[in-house]
Amino acid sequence: MNQQMMKELAGQRAVEALVKSGMKLGLGTGSTAIPAVRHIGALMAAGKLKDIKAAPTSFQTVIECEKWGIPLFSLNSKEIGGKLDLTIDGADEVDGQNRCVKGGGGALLLEKIIAYASAAYAIVVDETKLNDTLGLKFPIPVEVVPEARLPAQAALEALGAEALLREAVRKAGPVITEHGNLLLDCRFKTPIDAAAFETEINRIPGVVENGLFTRLRPVVFIAHADGTVEERR
Ligand code: A5P
Repeated sequence: MNQQMMKELAGQRAVEALVKSGMKLGLGTGSTAIPAVRHIGALMAAGKLKDIKAAPTSFQTVIECEKWGIPLFSLNSKEIGGKLDLTIDGADEVDGQNRCVKGGGGALLLEKIIAYASAAYAIVVDETKLNDTLGLKFPIPVEVVPEARLPAQAALEALGAEALLREAVRKAGPVITEHGNLLLDCRFKTPIDAAAFETEINRIPGVVENGLFTRLRPVVFIAHADGTVEERR
């Protein structure tokens, strides 16, 4: 099974295991979360899921939900009321305690707000995302307001990171997030205390949010190349 097939399998399995009619759902971003969104859309179209209300984490998710007719609401809408039953999202890295790095797709801010507003949280990944130590292989994205670019970069480097401004593809200059900010991708040379760094990085003036997700204990659906899906709690 190739990686894209594993991503689709993980997303579908999480939907089948956890999504029920009437739920308020947070829907994630990226090439593993989107197949889950599509599966929800297909189940709704087949009449097998009803009365779903969704809060999207990015424009990518909005567009996919619109294609499938999945009703969308802001997290602050009367219909959602700031609380979700379940969020399903992907991740860039997952460690043995189900802590994650997210934000490879640049959507970490809304992804974190929505994840922390959810009663249940599911992460869908293929087996290549598993890693014992966070922050060494896949960089931790840090969203900063544009005016804080250099001081935040210096503060992150003082914490031991190599902090690189994320450059856009097919647009000159940096990536501008959906909230008008910049991203500094931080790679560490030695292992970090992920839980402490999630808090510490956000203490830097101008940092809006970072891609460490350590305070949630998601159920992780891991698709393997042999076609099996492991459910890790
Ligand atoms: C988006 O900002 C991310 O958090 C994604 O969930 C993460 O980058 C995983 O993406 P893929 O499923 O595309 O690898």
